[in-house]
Amino acid sequence: MIDYIYKHYESVASTNDIAKNLINEYCPEGTIIFADEQTDGRGRSGRVWESKKGETISTSLVLYPTLSDEAISCITLVAALSVRLAIKRFAGLECKIKWPNDITISGKKICGILTERIFIDGKSAVILGIGVNVKNETFSEELEDIATSVWIEVVREKEEMSKVLKGDNDESYNDDVIKKLMEKDNTELLYYIWDAFNEYYDIFVKTGNMAGLSDEYNECLINVGRVVKTDDVMGEIKGVALGINDDGELIISTGKGKQSVRCGEVSVRGLYNVL
Ligand code: ATP
Ligand code: BTN
Repeated sequence: MIDYIYKHYESVASTNDIAKNLINEYCPEGTIIFADEQTDGRGRSGRVWESKKGETISTSLVLYPTLSDEAISCITLVAALSVRLAIKRFAGLECKIKWPNDITISGKKICGILTERIFIDGKSAVILGIGVNVKNETFSEELEDIATSVWIEVVREKEEMSKVLKGDNDESYNDDVIKKLMEKDNTELLYYIWDAFNEYYDIFVKTGNMAGLSDEYNECLINVGRVVKTDDVMGEIKGVALGINDDGELIISTGKGKQSVRCGEVSVRGLYNVL
């Protein structure tokens, strides 16, 4: 079990950058940064991550894992399982994972994960950054077709329920979650996320691979059975995704047989983006 130390900030450029600074000051493993707002949040390959004040969870965890490079690349997958479970426990929503680092629901992205690695005094440090859209009612024009939030989804479920069930509808459906979202800050869901991460990380470090988690991961994986295309600079792979193996690699069935791609190497297209 990791012992967590929570550090709260009102506004930061990026919680991953704060984590980097704290690592340079030798902060302990388990240091968690969370901020009400990020002014320069980022995704993979320097892409912009929108995190508006009070609406989103922006958080990063510092780890000093003594694992192989292959195992370290699985931490993103462990985090994805954790966010999915936390959202289910908090709001009852059934999210899916888009390999390797997005959590989706209704075909839209509700969470992104950015895992970065730095070396200090020869020791490897991992910064696990998680961004979750919690209270957002709307998104910027560029994101409105691809992003969603816990709020949008619980309200949508409630409306759908009342449309389908009409007179038999439970009028109070999802009201408890809606009330929590209206009245409270985002810390309850934040704690759910990091508690779930501790549960999964314990299972993961026992084997140093996804052996104990791959079945559950594959059950939530939205890519399974869908055509995916990698952005790999070393050569594009296009085929049908079959799921992950115990090393966390995505197995793709292609015209040349099965091929595997490792997290950290590639992006896969085929959900919100055209192939
Ligand atoms: P990949 O498959 O490589 O992960 P991606 O399109 O998911 O590709 P990322 O770098 O993972 O790209 O995520 C950053 C992208 O997420 C941005 O380019 C933007 O399209 C989208 N994005 C930015 N902010 C948000 C947000 N708050 N909610 C949902 N999506 C967002
Ligand atoms: C992605 O989808 O590419 C990943 C987005 C990751 C966003 C989180 S928010 C907390 C941490 N700080 C950042 O600047 N990025 C990550």
